[in-house]
Amino acid sequence: MRIDIITCLPKLLESPFSHSILQRAQDKGLAEVVVHDLRQWATNKQKQLDDYAYGGGAGMVMMIEPIDRCISELKKDREYDEVIYMTPDGERLEQGIANQLSLKKNIIILCGHYKGVDERVREAFVTREISIGDYVLSGGELAAAVLSDAIIRLIPGVLSDETSALTDSFQDNLLAPPVYTRPAEYKGMKVPEVLLSGHQQKIEDWRAQKSIERTKDRRPDLLEE
Ligand code: 6GU
Repeated sequence: MRIDIITCLPKLLESPFSHSILQRAQDKGLAEVVVHDLRQWATNKQKQLDDYAYGGGAGMVMMIEPIDRCISELKKDREYDEVIYMTPDGERLEQGIANQLSLKKNIIILCGHYKGVDERVREAFVTREISIGDYVLSGGELAAAVLSDAIIRLIPGVLSDETSALTDSFQDNLLAPPVYTRPAEYKGMKVPEVLLSGHQQKIEDWRAQKSIERTKDRRPDLLEE
C-alpha cells in the first residue's frame, strides 16, 4: 500500500512515520508513505499557497492551483483509490473506515490548513473527507498521521502477532479487556487469579465478560450499535 500525503508543513509528519510500527511497516515494504511539500508546487516567486477569502472574513484559504499541480503529477504515475481531505467537517473516523481503507492500494491524503481549501478542490479532486473527532486542530497533519497509523497497522504482516489487530478495542464494537504482566503481585496489588490458572477457556470467558462490563460502563453507546 502507498500513501501520498500532501501538506504545507512536511516537517510535522517526519517523526510519526520514523518510529516503531509505522517505520517497520515501511522497512518491510508493506507500506510506503511519501510526504509531499505543497510549496514545491507553488506557482509564484513568493511560493504562495494561500490567499484571502472571496467575500472577506478572517482566515486564509488554500489555493487550488498548487494542489491541482501536485495531485495531477501523482496521478501520472499511478491510479489512486481515494483522495482523502482531512477536515473537521468530514466524516468522523471510526475503526470501520480504517478497516476499509487498509484494503486499498494507493491513497492520497490532503492536509488542510488555515481556513481550509478552496471549495473547488473538494468538488474536483477529493473522493472522501475525514475528521478525527469533534474538536479543532491547527491543521490536518496530525489527523493525517492518526489516520495513516490506524490504516497501516491493519495491513497483513505489519503487526507481528497477526491476531492482535483483531482483538483491538472497537473491532467488534467492544472495548478491550484489562491486561496484566509480571509480577503477579506488586505492592499488594494482585493479578486476577483466573489469568494465572492456565485454563484457556476460563480465561477467554473472563476476558469476554470484562470486555462487556467495560463497554457497558464506559461506552454504552457502542452496545446499542
Ligand atoms: Cl482532519 N483537521 C483539523 N484541522 N481539525 C480536526 C480534524 C482534522 N479532525 C478533527 N479535528
